Amino acid sequence: MWYSATQIGITEIDMDHSNIDTMLQLFFSDRIPQSYLEQIIRSLIRHFDHEEEVIAGLGREFPDGHKQEHARLVQLLEEKLVAWKDGSLDGKAFAEEVRSLLLLHVVEFDALLGEPAD
Ligand SMILES: [Fe+2]
Ligand SMILES: [Fe+2]
Repeated sequence: MWYSATQIGITEIDMDHSNIDTMLQLFFSDRIPQSYLEQIIRSLIRHFDHEEEVIAGLGREFPDGHKQEHARLVQLLEEKLVAWKDGSLDGKAFAEEVRSLLLLHVVEFDALLGEPAD
């Protein structure tokens, strides 16, 4: 587990993380075609928006730095998708980078969503 290694305590967000982990795990175990990688990345990009919506739905302000980090990751993921499609980036190497990114992101940013500063 990577993304869901840290439970943040908001069910909708923890469920997204767990689903993304499951998709990555299937990808690594070769139980789904390589071409599925793009759908995993698209789900991840949708998750960033969803996470911001869930927090807004709780009537809370989404931290600016966290929002900027989502935007940075979306740009990075889009660039890597292009590299993967043109054959200059291996699918497994791409997925491995995504796992590392998510491990860091959940600890540095998402975990703080579960502890609102008041
Ligand atoms: Fe996040
Ligand atoms: Fe997240």
